Amino acid sequence: MKNVIVFGATSGIGKALTELLLKEGCNVAITGRRIAALEAIQQQYPKQVLIKQNDIQNVIEVEKVFHEIVAVFGTVDLVIQSSGVGFINSKLHWEKQEQTINTNVLGCTKLYILAYNLFKEQQYGHLVGISSIAAIRGNRSAPDYFASKAYQKAYLESLYIKTKSIKSQQVFITDIRPGFIDTAMALGSVLFWMVPLEKATKQIYNAIKKKKRVAYISKRWQLIACVLKWIPAWVLRKIV
Ligand SMILES: NC(=O)c1ccc[n+]([C@@H]2O[C@H](COP(=O)([O-])OP(=O)(O)OC[C@H]3O[C@@H](n4cnc5c(N)ncnc54)[C@H](OP(=O)(O)O)[C@@H]3O)[C@@H](O)[C@H]2O)c1
Repeated sequence: MKNVIVFGATSGIGKALTELLLKEGCNVAITGRRIAALEAIQQQYPKQVLIKQNDIQNVIEVEKVFHEIVAVFGTVDLVIQSSGVGFINSKLHWEKQEQTINTNVLGCTKLYILAYNLFKEQQYGHLVGISSIAAIRGNRSAPDYFASKAYQKAYLESLYIKTKSIKSQQVFITDIRPGFIDTAMALGSVLFWMVPLEKATKQIYNAIKKKKRVAYISKRWQLIACVLKWIPAWVLRKIV
């Protein structure tokens, strides 16, 4: 039976992935700030679920919680980092940017490092980060969110490169890059190609099982990403 940790399991993608993993018989440690949401999942699967209330912005707590989970599980096969915030913030309000940076960059980095170091020690394991199509270019309405996703993309790629030095070659890094998925997080007034949560979760789960390096959800966003990479900034300035 696999031991899994899901950060950001109280709603949306993290919650849906948790439910799939539980149905597959995994033991799953789940985190998030909303304790009632964590308890509701635990009540459904009392023998398989370990809950740890956690604010990922508090990196000392993240480390403590992570080690507590590892102490219970002994070994960990899969870590999924799905916590995240994002705001439409065209006026560049600092409080929102600070929250985005502390969650999507600071807290996230701490978790990536904890997972990578554990897997290196175990000589196996799989780290999955949920970045975004937003990782590819800048944006006028949510610059902090787009920049935080670019950071996650680069960090996950860096960890992938680092796995070359792991002798067993059994440590895997996956970067999931969704377009729009129907959750509370879907940002913006123009939302298109929105994928229902259940469908998106199945696609993400398949990408995890195949240990993909990068997966766009849905696949058509890969085409958009290719185009976006080559568009000059002055064109981008006109269209987004
Ligand atoms: N939905 C989309 O269209 C879309 C597109 C691209 C990328 N993504 C990415 O997918 C990931 C999951 O988002 P979602 O769509 O599932 O949205 P969601 O339903 O809002 O889920 C976000 C999760 O992050 C957790 N979280 C937020 N701040 C936290 C904090 N300070 N400490 C601990 N946990 C925190 C939330 O838990 P608590 O509130 O309980 O703490 C919740 O479980 C995010 O990284 C998001 O950027 C989503």
